[in-house]
Amino acid sequence: MTSNTVFTGKTALIYGAALGIGRAVAQEFARRGARLVIADIDRAGAEETATLIRSAGGEAVALRCDVTSDAAVREAAVAAEIAYGAVDIVMNNVGGILHGNPQDIPISEWQRIIDLNLMPVVRSNAVFLPKMLARGSGFIVNTASFAGLYPFATTRMPYVAAKAAVVALSESLALDLEPQGIRVSCLCPGPVRTNVMAGMKTWSAGAAMRGPGAMLEIKSVEDVATTLADGMEAGRILIPTHEEAWDILARHGADPDGFIRSKIAAFAQGDFGRPSPRPAAES
Ligand SMILES: NC(=O)c1ccc[n+]([C@@H]2O[C@H](COP(=O)([O-])OP(=O)(O)OC[C@H]3O[C@@H](n4cnc5c(N)ncnc54)[C@H](O)[C@@H]3O)[C@@H](O)[C@H]2O)c1
Repeated sequence: MTSNTVFTGKTALIYGAALGIGRAVAQEFARRGARLVIADIDRAGAEETATLIRSAGGEAVALRCDVTSDAAVREAAVAAEIAYGAVDIVMNNVGGILHGNPQDIPISEWQRIIDLNLMPVVRSNAVFLPKMLARGSGFIVNTASFAGLYPFATTRMPYVAAKAAVVALSESLALDLEPQGIRVSCLCPGPVRTNVMAGMKTWSAGAAMRGPGAMLEIKSVEDVATTLADGMEAGRILIPTHEEAWDILARHGADPDGFIRSKIAAFAQGDFGRPSPRPAAES
């Protein structure tokens, strides 16, 4: 294990680590010396992540937690403290997508997606901010998406809004909390090979999926975990999985109207910005 001040001997609680990005991040944090608490609605998957960590020589426990419940988020924090003491790093990684034109998506679905992608960060903050502020230390990691950084995901608007809110919230938290000893990072995944689309609800069967850019490589979860942990060690706040994000954001920032209109033109020509080969997710 490498020695570093971010991970060595620290307790990390990850909400949403039974699969995909969360599982790979849990394994990477453990490799760098952290003890892991895996909290996920999928209890069996969470146990499997903890077993993988323990069989590689690390320390990990698993518990069931539905992050759409305030009480469950609080109870997971208490269980983590009982297992390993104060939580140094909390990662709010749960997310889920949908598919549909905005006129077809019912308000109840907006509420469900916001409850799954934005409110778990709020619930986690309600539990951990007072504790971390009292100690004057801690690390909060929130998982957003390229969909929250620049416009392309026209058939996932509740997800876009929720993830944009996670980016904005993370930036403001960093502004407020860094001077008080608490670090904040926001992982912004582009296309990553996972099962995130497995249970996706579709509201407009014929609507074409739009992607973040055909030039983007589809990353592995292992690459994403390394990028995140390296970024946290390097003191970064916004951590995109693909460095191309900075060029895209610079173009958007330099001429937002022009950027949007160039997307309209590309979509009209049938260039939907979908990385190739088709990823498991393009969120
Ligand atoms: N895969 C991608 O291309 C991609 C792109 C952008 C952003 N993201 C974001 O990355 C994060 C991880 O996504 P992933 O691709 O690894 O997805 P995934 O579906 O493989 O993993 C999501 C995890 O969250 C858990 N989960 C779902 N609902 C839950 C609930 N109510 N309570 C507790 N746990 C719950 C699942 O059991 C699973 O372990 C999400 O926030 C997602 O929006 C992924």
